[in-house]
Amino acid sequence: MSYQDWHVGNDSQCHPLFPPDQADAAPEKPQVSPYRVYRLLTDLEDILRAEADNTQRLAQIRPLVRHFLDESPLMLLQCPPPDPDRGWAVTKLYDEADFPLTIQLVSWKPGMVSSIHNHAAWGLVAILDGEECNRFWQPQAEGEPMAQVGEQTLQPGELITFMPDAIHQIEALGPDPVLSFNLYGETQYDQRFEYTAADSRSQPF
Ligand SMILES: [Fe+2]
Repeated sequence: MSYQDWHVGNDSQCHPLFPPDQADAAPEKPQVSPYRVYRLLTDLEDILRAEADNTQRLAQIRPLVRHFLDESPLMLLQCPPPDPDRGWAVTKLYDEADFPLTIQLVSWKPGMVSSIHNHAAWGLVAILDGEECNRFWQPQAEGEPMAQVGEQTLQPGELITFMPDAIHQIEALGPDPVLSFNLYGETQYDQRFEYTAADSRSQPF
């Protein structure tokens, strides 16, 4: 089990962050146990109200999510198996109209490859099981191929955060489904795009 954290900026560059157990400067972890979804949600709401900068928000949110996952060993059991035809499945743990947070458990069938896309929202993905390759892309001039600017394979226990304009593509590696915990802020749907590797022109996603 790895405890490495990663962060992907709006330029799609992926950087390693200090593992939580070495990050002396990390915000104090909540001591509440059990730390259930509703407590995570209220702490997240407090952070979003107090902090407007998405990078700072994510720095404060990471330890909360790690604590939540530590307190939720049965979370794996709530992950849906991937749909055999579609290749993936989603269970929403939380999604409420007019509240800027979505929490999902997601599964991908081995070998599945996603589109190249941004999320137009800050995001956090924690790998619960399986092995997920993240490829990072940058658009070039219209009509030119996309440029792959990085790649990072994530193992169970690793956690990655995304800025809203980060562009990535995932592939489920290995023999087992990839199961992940996904948290997203408010989506700007008119800014959410997908791409093909051969063409930097964006399509609504
Ligand atoms: Fe994504």
